[in-house]
Amino acid sequence: MAKRRKRVLTGDGVPSPREEKAPAPPRREKKKKTDIGKVFINISIGLCIFSLIWFFYALYMRSALARRVVTLHPSPRVLNATSSSPAVSPDQFWGSYRPHVYFGMKTRSPRSVVTGLMWMRQFADVDGNLRHTCEQGDRLQGYGWLMHDGVSFGVQEIHDRDFTLTTEFVKRMGGDHGGDWTWRITAKQHSSAAMAPVISLMFYAATDVQGSLQAHVEEKNVLSSVTGTSEELGNFKITFGKPTAGEGATGKYAKYNYLQTRSPGLDKLTDIAKNSLNHKFIFSPPKGEKRSYFAVDSHKVMTHHNQQQDPKIEGDFVVHQVTVQTPFQIEVLFESGSFHDRPNQLVGSVLTDELERRKVAFNEKFEGTFGLQAKEFTSSQIKFAKAALSNMLGGMGYFYGQSVVQSVYNEHPLLYPESPLFTAVPSRSFFPRGFLWDEGFHQLLLSKWDPPLSLEVIAHWLDLINVEGWIPREQILDDEARSKVPSEFIVQHNENANPPTLFLVLQKLVDQLETDPDRLSSHLPVLRRLYPRLQTWFEWFNTTQAGPMANSYRWRGRDKDTNLFLNPKTLTSGLDDYPRASHPSSDERHVDLYCWMALASGIMANVARILGEPHKVYENTHLTLSNNELLNELHWSDNLRVFSDYGNHTQAVSLQQEKVYVPPGQPRHQFPVTRLVRSVRRAPKLQYVNALGYVSLFPFLLHILTPDSPKLEHILRDIQDPEHLWTPYGLRSLSRTDPLYMKRNTEHDAPYWRGPIWININYLAVRALHHYGSIEGPYKEKAAAIYQELRTNLIKNVYKQYLETGYIWEQYSDSTGRGQGSHPFTGWSALTVLIMAEKY
Ligand SMILES: *[C@@H]1O[C@H](CO)[C@@H](O)[C@H](O)[C@H]1NC(C)=O
Ligand SMILES: *[C@@H]1O[C@H](CO)[C@@H](O)[C@H](O)[C@H]1NC(C)=O
Ligand SMILES: *[C@@H]1O[C@H](CO)[C@@H](O)[C@H](O)[C@H]1NC(C)=O
Repeated sequence: MAKRRKRVLTGDGVPSPREEKAPAPPRREKKKKTDIGKVFINISIGLCIFSLIWFFYALYMRSALARRVVTLHPSPRVLNATSSSPAVSPDQFWGSYRPHVYFGMKTRSPRSVVTGLMWMRQFADVDGNLRHTCEQGDRLQGYGWLMHDGVSFGVQEIHDRDFTLTTEFVKRMGGDHGGDWTWRITAKQHSSAAMAPVISLMFYAATDVQGSLQAHVEEKNVLSSVTGTSEELGNFKITFGKPTAGEGATGKYAKYNYLQTRSPGLDKLTDIAKNSLNHKFIFSPPKGEKRSYFAVDSHKVMTHHNQQQDPKIEGDFVVHQVTVQTPFQIEVLFESGSFHDRPNQLVGSVLTDELERRKVAFNEKFEGTFGLQAKEFTSSQIKFAKAALSNMLGGMGYFYGQSVVQSVYNEHPLLYPESPLFTAVPSRSFFPRGFLWDEGFHQLLLSKWDPPLSLEVIAHWLDLINVEGWIPREQILDDEARSKVPSEFIVQHNENANPPTLFLVLQKLVDQLETDPDRLSSHLPVLRRLYPRLQTWFEWFNTTQAGPMANSYRWRGRDKDTNLFLNPKTLTSGLDDYPRASHPSSDERHVDLYCWMALASGIMANVARILGEPHKVYENTHLTLSNNELLNELHWSDNLRVFSDYGNHTQAVSLQQEKVYVPPGQPRHQFPVTRLVRSVRRAPKLQYVNALGYVSLFPFLLHILTPDSPKLEHILRDIQDPEHLWTPYGLRSLSRTDPLYMKRNTEHDAPYWRGPIWININYLAVRALHHYGSIEGPYKEKAAAIYQELRTNLIKNVYKQYLETGYIWEQYSDSTGRGQGSHPFTGWSALTVLIMAEKY
């Protein structure tokens, strides 16, 4: 069309040079001709220059816009580059910062030397039972930290089939590189085991590009120690003790093997160890039969491995294998070369005494912080609560690397700037990496235990913010993390938000500051550096996630292919498949996001006030969004009498088998397998999304409702109604009466936020009941009564499931209370501790 119009114009409108020919003096004519020629040339030159400028400008804009997604926020980082170094933060240099392995330690540095433990049962019926990274497929009967102070020591139990390993570590400060540590591994067979199993423990150390390791071999091929050096650790020595039957007991018969090789990456360690296994070694205890067993074998791996890998990018990898029959105990000692005046070695009874002291201190701090003894919980319940807290602390990881991100201006994904992230993780097996919206919940618990630790984690997250104000919501930073994530989930898109739960913790920290002047002076500098980042973060939400009407908000990034989902997911809201408008559109508004913004604006106002920054604009936004009239107008569905999303919606949807025409006489199996596709029986229209569940509770969960709001009556009624949200195990995520209750979203997508009980939202619910139950209002007594009952139910069930299964779970069945989904899940499910302690 455009082309055609242009041709018409030049034909009719613009006079052609020939038509211009007119009777005139030749000289003049010539002059005129040259004038016209010049004009044309000038115009063309002008046009050329203009287009070139435009072209380069567009190119520049395009690349500038394309770079924006990977351009970090310009304000000074909250944490400077040395903040995690052994010079500035020696106590936290070494730690169990490898949550994805059953047992291992590293330092908080970009290319840390890592240490870890693998193990396998010998002479078992099942081969290849090498354990290393936390895998649900290993079907362990339970594992996790029972005690962990987040800094100096930890005690973990791992229940394998016939035996239990207790893995303990203790650190000792000294020197300039984060000091020493010792591990103690204790193995005991279960009373049910037919006979004492023979187990191989494989202790290893590996470098990640930087640093080197040397194995020291005694006679008979026994590796006695590993020495090494790296930029941040200086010189160090790792010594492997001999197994004994227990502390002070004599040595036990054991076989030793070792592997010394190179590895192309930390994510390859398991494979290398596995591939090196050789069955030629003989285990022949003095009073037992001779049997051949599996062991790592340098000889085997060296030959095939080194040929294909570029030696430049490899790291050293040394494994020390001890094969011994239970029961036994082994210690491994790490000594820092710069620690000169150590009084003795941290082994044997010295270690035992040190462990005892740390345990006593841990128990005292735990009771001082949470007061569960004072609340008369049983010792078994308290042990459970300690395990929940400890596994969250022991699940903290230090990651370093680059996210893969994309904006609409990028044809291909880009690498985000290299950054560190110190964070807790939702699940050591299934989600061993940082998740933005989980982290706010994690820090609600950790900020009670160690407020500066929480502040540091928040700082790490906000140091990841880009110039636009966006933080990638799932942090998949290194090869080890990437090896655990399906490729379609790796790229993070910058239009996608995630609930800004970090504001929940900031609120707590700010409350503490306001009442505690000592804390104020120490935290104020951090808060001041956080502030410009928080401002941009808030602004990013307030603009990019704005809704269609004034003061409304809408999650971006919903699933677009409406045909294949029963209800297109909203991963960005954190509540993945919770029912929203059936037909995603820009007409939508989301009540949970509205409430997050009401909360965030209020906390921004508080932070600004503390810092003496202009706070009016936040206060105004907070006042506007807290206005219950506005909330009702935007989100109250009179029809169902619940708070609700609004959008282009119909309830009349279902998944149907796709119809494939099979011509008569042709075999069915030659045609593609039919998929489930969505069928829409009634056309969608703009209306409230009548779903009753967690999303409808947000004005209550985040305390946006005034205590006298009549809507509270409806909410409390729905909460208490077993047909809707009430179960004996906690509040279910979606009403039993909802058409999408427990419905699959695709044939492969089981219901997730469509019925099961989630502890993070239940925590918010008991917190809200506690809130409305303790301030004056017509619903005070009712809220207080439900509070007691819900709190009791939640604690009872999470605890019961833990006793029965050995795990804290991602979610709980609303019909049986059974734990389900990934495990252990000591991310937000560990908030049970705060519910027990009534710390909100
Ligand atoms: C940055 O690091 C230095 C030590 O290297 C320290 O003295 C200083 O206080 C740190 N600054 C901030 C803002 O943390
Ligand atoms: C948030 O956005 C609204 C609507 O654009 C605006 O009126 C308000 O001032 C903004 N709030 C802040 C704190 O920037
Ligand atoms: C709702 O969705 C349907 C189906 O995509 C579309 O035809 C209709 O125009 C939408 N209605 C509105 C008001 O956007």
